[in-house]
Amino acid sequence: MNTQFITILGSTGSIGVNTLDVIKKNSDHYKVFALTANTQWQRLQHQILEFKPHFAVCFDEKSCHLLRQSLINESVSTKILSGLDGLKKVASDDRADTVVAAIVGAAGLLPTLAAVQTGKKILLANKETLVMAGEYFMEQVRLHQALLLPVDSEHNALFQSLPNHHYSKNVEINWSDFGVTKLVLTASGGPFLEEKLENFASKTPQQACLHPNWKMGRKISVDSATLMNKGLEVIEASYLYNMGPDQIDVVIHPQSIIHSMVNYKDGSVLAELGNPDMRTPIAHVLSWPQRIHSGVDMLDLIKNNHLDFRDVDHLKFPCLKIAYSALRQGGTAPAIINAANEVAVDAFLKEKIAFNEIPNIIHETLNQSDIVNANTLDIILRADNDARQLASKIADTKQSLSREN
Ligand SMILES: NC(=O)c1ccc[n+]([C@@H]2O[C@H](COP(=O)([O-])OP(=O)(O)OC[C@H]3O[C@@H](n4cnc5c(N)ncnc54)[C@H](OP(=O)(O)O)[C@@H]3O)[C@@H](O)[C@H]2O)c1
Repeated sequence: MNTQFITILGSTGSIGVNTLDVIKKNSDHYKVFALTANTQWQRLQHQILEFKPHFAVCFDEKSCHLLRQSLINESVSTKILSGLDGLKKVASDDRADTVVAAIVGAAGLLPTLAAVQTGKKILLANKETLVMAGEYFMEQVRLHQALLLPVDSEHNALFQSLPNHHYSKNVEINWSDFGVTKLVLTASGGPFLEEKLENFASKTPQQACLHPNWKMGRKISVDSATLMNKGLEVIEASYLYNMGPDQIDVVIHPQSIIHSMVNYKDGSVLAELGNPDMRTPIAHVLSWPQRIHSGVDMLDLIKNNHLDFRDVDHLKFPCLKIAYSALRQGGTAPAIINAANEVAVDAFLKEKIAFNEIPNIIHETLNQSDIVNANTLDIILRADNDARQLASKIADTKQSLSREN
């Protein structure tokens, strides 16, 4: 294996830190080319001192200034950049072989697109990119012959369970030609799976972020608690694997041992199993089609001898149906629900709205928005911006109502 140079967009987050851990365990094969953060400059500073990348970027200008100051007396030659230009520059630099797209939310779209447009290998964790701009993004992937591989554990499990020896970077594959009938995404059900609906209004950000199986960033943790994460994943799977909403099912599997499954027309169900640890899918896509050590313990089926499955309770978790509906509507609808969700989750994390208002804000934003074809980047960015403004207004109303009550 030749040495690969890796850029990690979002290196200070949960996926970023796990990626660096896998790289460290395989340092003969992988070197860090660039690392990026938003405001966590101190964590980025530690990463720079350890991995000595060519570039580091703080999106936030003030944090960038503090980072530069902190490195004055250190003997590292890392060049420090800031802002969107800095992110795009490191994402598209020819000297990096692979870009790990691990920025959270819509902020990841433009830097990830910059990487795609140079035809690199992209390891995609940032699902919001595909939700916002699915058709356009996949078109760009094919046009620039980028190699797009999924980090999200469910999509990675699907990739491992599909006949992916046919996988090629510039061809849209019709998986039904290979006997695939359905993709089945598993969902842990999040921290409130057993909770009564009447208690949802009083749930705190801290409780919502306490995921039973995975340790993740705050936004995706709240998405898991509302099951919006699964809704985003259904949309992600649809664009990634070119499958319609009726060909994608969701099943609750609280243990998160089976990470997703593919049904074939002969009755076969292929699945990927393992301990719930993101280092497995990260190691898989870093080295694909080879395999490397990830540091994850082998699954012990005797210790994990009880696997449960059940249906989603849509009354408790309405976000999943909203996401299916947006996928069916197509055009800018997925971008609208993605933006509304980001606004609602942020308002919940700042304790401005109650947990059970998140689906209401997404639903109302979608209902009050015009949905148009999402065939250009401008249209997608405008839809995202308009939906954010509308969702903020709706969230403000919910906030004042809750103050009055
Ligand atoms: N965590 C998981 O296990 C997991 C699993 C599957 C998929 N994913 C997906 O992977 C992505 C990252 O998730 P995460 O849990 O790693 O999130 P996270 O822990 O919140 O980390 C997010 C990263 O993005 C950076 N960032 C945030 N806002 C930014 C902005 N405006 N501009 C530039 N950089 C920005 C953060 O920098 P600072 O640290 O400076 O804020 C951080 O490096 C999400 O799309 C998520 O859905 C995550």
